[in-house]
Amino acid sequence: MSPFLTSALLLVSTLTSTTAQSPSIPPPIQTQAYGNLTGISNVSTPACPSLGACHILVARGSLEPPGYGSIGAIKDRILARVPGSTAEAVDYPAVIKPSYVDSETDGVVAMKGLIGGFIANCDAKIPLVLMGFSQGAQVVSDSLVEQRGVRFPDNSSVDTVHPGSTLVRVAAAVMMGDPSSNLNGSTFHVGNATTHGLYPRTNNANFYATGLAERVKSYCDARDPFCASGKELGVHLGTIARYETQAVEFVVGMVKGFNRRSGNVNGSNGGGNSSTATPEPYTGLGRRRWEVMLL
Ligand SMILES: *[C@@H]1O[C@H](CO)[C@@H](O)[C@H](O)[C@H]1NC(C)=O
Ligand SMILES: *[C@@H]1O[C@H](CO)[C@@H](O)[C@H](O)[C@H]1NC(C)=O
Ligand SMILES: *[C@@H]1O[C@H](CO)[C@@H](O)[C@H](O)[C@H]1NC(C)=O
Ligand SMILES: *[C@@H]1O[C@H](CO)[C@@H](O)[C@H](O)[C@H]1NC(C)=O
Ligand SMILES: *[C@@H]1O[C@H](CO)[C@@H](O)[C@H](O)[C@H]1NC(C)=O
Ligand SMILES: *[C@@H]1O[C@H](CO)[C@@H](O)[C@H](O)[C@H]1NC(C)=O
Ligand SMILES: *[C@@H]1O[C@H](CO)[C@@H](O)[C@H](O)[C@H]1NC(C)=O
Repeated sequence: MSPFLTSALLLVSTLTSTTAQSPSIPPPIQTQAYGNLTGISNVSTPACPSLGACHILVARGSLEPPGYGSIGAIKDRILARVPGSTAEAVDYPAVIKPSYVDSETDGVVAMKGLIGGFIANCDAKIPLVLMGFSQGAQVVSDSLVEQRGVRFPDNSSVDTVHPGSTLVRVAAAVMMGDPSSNLNGSTFHVGNATTHGLYPRTNNANFYATGLAERVKSYCDARDPFCASGKELGVHLGTIARYETQAVEFVVGMVKGFNRRSGNVNGSNGGGNSSTATPEPYTGLGRRRWEVMLL
């Protein structure tokens, strides 16, 4: 068993069917876990990066402590590969109880806020990258193409697609273990899952209508309890480790391409024009209450 798995802290929680806001969500056994976060930088930098770099928005998985969560490992590798780049963690509850729906909706609202801030403040030549694990993966996909899924209540306040002028700023997005995964006709899935997630997306077409399908990857393997409605927690937990390198290469390639088209760099590297922004300590820690139930 990999160090990732053996060091994972298993957190198990049962979602009841009686939460006030989400009576239509059935009560699957919800399990979540995270690995060793020690090496992952918690620095969050709302400042715009310099031309030639990229900005990364990260949504952590359910029950991971505030910060970047385990997918922060991928963020750190991209920051190292594209010098001068900056990252921000989405500040949202990432809980399952009392309501996954409310937590995820908060995440979508917070992610949209960060996207809006980036669009308003940063040069259009700077590529934006989104990534998320588990509940955070659904935050990423919902915030891009609307929150719509089987068994997921409609909520008009988050059922909106960004204008094209916003979406063109997104160079790449990575979803790992997305519960809204729907394999129906999707070309951006990576992995051997053959079944859809717990809350399969009903508007996959939006990925194509917006042109995003070519700039996103959704990683999911068979028997994952969340993205493939399976029963093996280990498959879910291992997703980041299994696809980390592949996802880093995908994002760096997309960022390079975006920068090349923007005329920022000569295309032989992703960045190289180092940032003048001074990273600040991440202040979001502890702002949110997070709860776990240990089994
Ligand atoms: C980042 O924050 C997490 C969650 O509080 C913590 O476990 C981890 O040790 C921190 N990492 C660093 C490098 O400080
Ligand atoms: C967690 O990762 C850090 C940095 O890689 C390492 O120093 C530490 O020994 C690890 N802790 C455990 C319990 O694996
Ligand atoms: C809909 O989303 C908003 C946030 O935009 C949230 O405040 C509200 O509680 C949600 N409503 C439902 C029914 O989930
Ligand atoms: C997948 O596609 C089939 C055929 O169009 C449809 O009947 C089914 O409802 C779809 N499933 C999901 C989860 O979207
Ligand atoms: C799916 O892929 C994973 C990772 O490569 C592998 O470990 C697993 O055995 C595969 N599962 C099936 C059902 O093919
Ligand atoms: C292009 O980038 C490479 C790698 O950073 C660098 O060595 C080279 O000098 C650059 N060429 C130009 C014309 O800027
Ligand atoms: C960084 O990029 C800016 C804007 O393109 C340019 O003016 C500046 O000369 C670059 N600096 C370096 C060290 O390449």
